[in-house]
Amino acid sequence: MNEIIGSSPPIRRLKEVIKQVSDTGLSVLITGESGVGKELVARSLHRHSPRSKKAFIKVNCAALPNELLESELFGYERGAFTGATEAKPGKFELADGGTMFLDEIGDMSIGLQAKLLQVLQDSEFCRVGGIKDKKVDVWVICATNHDLETDIQKGVFREDLFYRINIIKIEVPPLRDRKDDIPQLINHFFRRYSKALNRKTAPLRISNELLDIFMYHYWPGNVRELENYVQKIIVMGDEEAVKQELLSKRDPKGYSGGHVVHPDFSREEDLINSVIDGIQNDFPESFPSLKQVKKLAQSKAERIFIEEALRRTGGNKRDAAVLLQISYKAILYKIKEYGIDSMKEEYVKDGISVTIVQE
Ligand SMILES: Nc1ncnc2c1ncn2[C@@H]1O[C@H](COP(=O)(O)OP(=O)(O)OP(=O)(O)O)[C@@H](O)[C@H]1O
Ligand SMILES: [Mg+2]
Repeated sequence: MNEIIGSSPPIRRLKEVIKQVSDTGLSVLITGESGVGKELVARSLHRHSPRSKKAFIKVNCAALPNELLESELFGYERGAFTGATEAKPGKFELADGGTMFLDEIGDMSIGLQAKLLQVLQDSEFCRVGGIKDKKVDVWVICATNHDLETDIQKGVFREDLFYRINIIKIEVPPLRDRKDDIPQLINHFFRRYSKALNRKTAPLRISNELLDIFMYHYWPGNVRELENYVQKIIVMGDEEAVKQELLSKRDPKGYSGGHVVHPDFSREEDLINSVIDGIQNDFPESFPSLKQVKKLAQSKAERIFIEEALRRTGGNKRDAAVLLQISYKAILYKIKEYGIDSMKEEYVKDGISVTIVQE
């Protein structure tokens, strides 16, 4: 149910990191764009940890005003405020022995951040209106799509808390950087939702044409966006509406979805100039025929642009083929023909960084 689907290099690395980190109890900060799977990663960390039989408690720090968030997290004593007719334990007490997932941590007020820092440092806190400190054993995992370092500069996030929660940092890469996972994710969502949505006759796969469109899409909403499209296809009974929607968003200059990877072509112009320089350097002794020039120019240009496409897609040959609008077979052939090293380190960015901060 909560399995992390995908076998692209960044996802394989992510799964490894989860295994390495899950029994340490060190605070984890999960970052990444909206819909990349931050909560899924938090749940997976808990499931792989020795705390898996105990509670996993999630609190969304953006969903409540800060006074309510404080009593939600730390509980309150009877009479702490008007309406507090009974004492109530907070989520930290409920999570004792287990894991606390603080989602959208960047939205927590600076005052509450101080109280959280105390729990992280001493495992102690006080209920609202209480006098006695309570001790808990909780693994704290936080997530955010804010840039907390910028928030620190702006004075809205405490630097000392940042270092406390950021002992291990897991960056979940956007879907556009791991498009190899798209087919597997589609299958997973078809399996998951065709039963749940009660559509027995719904399609169970998408056409190659739509897959091409998906491979080209920029995915601003990441995996959640893909999940929504699959649900829509199941409910509508065919893929037409989704196809039209994506085609209408498509930008001829780059990825679809209103985002253009390289809005101006100055980089491409530089590349063309390097093709021309290359031809002039390789000029044969006798003056070449135009036919020879054309052939030389073509192979130089193809090589340079295939390398550039690999660079822009993190070494992903399928994506590079989509970008160049040639078939996967054709790119494989050309990579071999030109002797391009498609595994070059500069192409392969795996997007996951793990920072262990020394105490
Ligand atoms: N690798 C994956 N395999 C299977 N499902 C995934 C994967 N990544 C994300 N999902 C699904 O996509 C949806 C969004 O994931 P999740 O809620 O974990 O993202 P998030 O990063 O917390 O998003 P937000 O920033 O909006 O809170 C969920 O339904 C989740 O199950
Ligand atoms: Mg989330």
